[in-house]
Amino acid sequence: MKTIESIAKTLKGKKVILRLDLNVPLQKKNITDTNRIDKIIPTLTFLISNKARILIVSHVGRPKGKIIEGLSMSPICEYLQKKLSQKIHLIKTDINNLNKKDLFKNEKENILMLENLRFFNGEEENDILFAKQLASFGDLYVNDAFSCSHRKHASVYSITKFIPSYAGIQLSSEIGALRNITKNIVRPITCIIGGSKISTKINVIKNLISKFDNLIFVGGMANNILKYKKFPIGKSVFEENCENIVEDIFVLSKKGNCKLIFPTDVCVGKNLNDNGNIKRIDEVLKDDIILDIGPKTINILNTTIEETKTILWNGPAGYFENINFRKGSFEIAKKIVEKNKKNEIYSVVGGGDTVAALNNFGLTKYFNFVSTAGGAFLEFLEGKELPGIKALE
Ligand code: 3PG
Repeated sequence: MKTIESIAKTLKGKKVILRLDLNVPLQKKNITDTNRIDKIIPTLTFLISNKARILIVSHVGRPKGKIIEGLSMSPICEYLQKKLSQKIHLIKTDINNLNKKDLFKNEKENILMLENLRFFNGEEENDILFAKQLASFGDLYVNDAFSCSHRKHASVYSITKFIPSYAGIQLSSEIGALRNITKNIVRPITCIIGGSKISTKINVIKNLISKFDNLIFVGGMANNILKYKKFPIGKSVFEENCENIVEDIFVLSKKGNCKLIFPTDVCVGKNLNDNGNIKRIDEVLKDDIILDIGPKTINILNTTIEETKTILWNGPAGYFENINFRKGSFEIAKKIVEKNKKNEIYSVVGGGDTVAALNNFGLTKYFNFVSTAGGAFLEFLEGKELPGIKALE
């Protein structure tokens, strides 16, 4: 991969299309965790100090080709302006109708941002014309979005066919660190998978089983396991038509000697703002939503973590945004940190929501490596070639 740092001397006056992953959690247009934005500040200051002109492109959320005002890049743009103390012009024009001439017209404007790429179908469809159109806006392209490099989308993959393309600072450092970690890994290895993006993760798990000693399911991921085991899950999130995959997971775990652990008790609510109610997994009612793991499960996880030398964690155990459902994620984090402080565990955590939860608890700094990536992190561990990285290579 050619890195942006290797061409620092040639950047002066160049228009750089910078693909970032500014997919941060938004609640009523407020950013609830800024980690992903803060992490790319070094890349921006590097480009600014080398006098490049920057066109930031990113997605936020999953608007699926529709313009959704609540998923505008606008609050992210405002936050970045404050961080950099520099004007950033957000261009709301339909990307398909945008003309290169309309960009950087003002000599003093050195940073621009396009509106959410996923407002346009061409992005997720990896449409070649959309990619070509994006590429036409700049002189070179930089991917500093490791966390969405597992997506074969126009701004991650096909754009590289039309313009000289480079790896950004954050992307290179995440790949370097993850390669190192996976080379020097010490057993027993435990992987905790949670969160709500079940469809992204469930297919990856099968290929991960052989690499781990323990695989712990929490959060939305666990609901599919509970459902497969014929426990009631009420109105909880789950992924349809996954029975075969879950069955394979159980078969492969037996073959590969990997212990599967899933909740024995849970904390439910009738809605996201409810108070928590602890239940055994056979007591969940039709109108209950599973929003966290219960105390018995926490004890089981603590025992497993106690015996672990390397831990990889992606996806919170519950809806930590509500204080009534944060205990599971908090107790997992606390146990890992306790072991980390005694140098008894190597801890790697990945994913926007997981890192947001750790930031919320003030515990992020006690983890050995924190990746911005969730799905991309798991696919990387799986040993898969990520489309965004392949395109750069
Ligand atoms: C992420 O948050 O993992 C990336 O931004 C990719 O988002 P996606 O799962 O919606 O493609």
